[in-house]
Amino acid sequence: MFNVKKDISKSYTLPASFYRSPAVFEEVKEKVLASSWLWVGDSSDLAEQGQQHPFTLLEGVLDEPLLFTKDKKENIHCLSNVCTHRGKIIVEEARKGRMLQCGYHGRCFGLDGSFKRQVAFEGAENFPSLEDNLSKIPFVEWLNMLFVSCNPQVPFEEMVAPIMERVAYLPLNEMEYDPNTSVDYFVDANWALYCDNYLEGLHVPFVHPELNEALDFGDYDYEIFPYCNLQLGIADENENRCFTPPKGHPDHGKRIYAWYFWLFPNLMLNFYPFGLSLNVVIPLRHNKTKVSFRTYKFKGTELSPSDYCIDATEMQDEAVVESVQKGIQSRFYRQGRFSPTHEKAVHHFHSLIQEYMAK
Ligand code: FES
Ligand SMILES: [Fe+2]
Repeated sequence: MFNVKKDISKSYTLPASFYRSPAVFEEVKEKVLASSWLWVGDSSDLAEQGQQHPFTLLEGVLDEPLLFTKDKKENIHCLSNVCTHRGKIIVEEARKGRMLQCGYHGRCFGLDGSFKRQVAFEGAENFPSLEDNLSKIPFVEWLNMLFVSCNPQVPFEEMVAPIMERVAYLPLNEMEYDPNTSVDYFVDANWALYCDNYLEGLHVPFVHPELNEALDFGDYDYEIFPYCNLQLGIADENENRCFTPPKGHPDHGKRIYAWYFWLFPNLMLNFYPFGLSLNVVIPLRHNKTKVSFRTYKFKGTELSPSDYCIDATEMQDEAVVESVQKGIQSRFYRQGRFSPTHEKAVHHFHSLIQEYMAK
């Protein structure tokens, strides 16, 4: 099915069937999505001791019932929210308390998921055992955000190291979530088409006239890392809103309009002078995607996403992506080729998809 070659100049893009087939989407669920680190929320939502915060990992797609807890030592735990007795969901709604108790037959667990007690099990052999504890789910807290993975293939810290190299000098811990400029979009297209479009600047002059004014397209650059990549937006000489990184920084001497980072498989971290615009690409079905735009602002900034035509740009992107979703249904389109200069990051994404799908 796949014909993504290491050498971009010889390579083909992912085949149309990858984006249009419900059967392939089923495979993607386990091989890509369940095997990756997924953004699930902000750690500020877990501020208090005793908090029990149930959630479903990728509802409608992975449907994994999970639970965050915060114990009295302020440690966060990510647990399976499924009772080890007969499988009821343990915490149905967010609540606070020192213990987790299943509402079916009363089995109790500590906030770290360890089995505590169960009535009427006298005489049960080899009980309780380790299997009666709730499964612990790998998670990480990074930049005050929470990521989980059912089956991680790569340590998260390793994946994000190239991002930190660029942005660690910024006041990241002082960024605050801004609900007023955060918004969800729904796109009638496969999630990977949305990512493909994000990953290249080749379309910018054709699709985004306003953005094209602010960026110096001649200096637009791409850097590929093992599990993330960067598009370096250089500010046009008439554009004053930009980062001027300090000495020793890899971009010292450049005027950075934005660092556009993509983290495999479905997260975009766009650092602008106002802060971070996080785009979480959430697959809903093989041809339906939700994209959550979340704004985290630097303290005291007077800039906002509206100064960057982010909404207009998004509408333009959605229109082309939805058009591609229609196009790839064609009997006459199978796959394409890559621009070796401007589609390196798309090629990177397709290579990783091919690698994960082969596992
Ligand atoms: S299913 Fe939870 S106690 Fe029985
Ligand atoms: Fe775009």
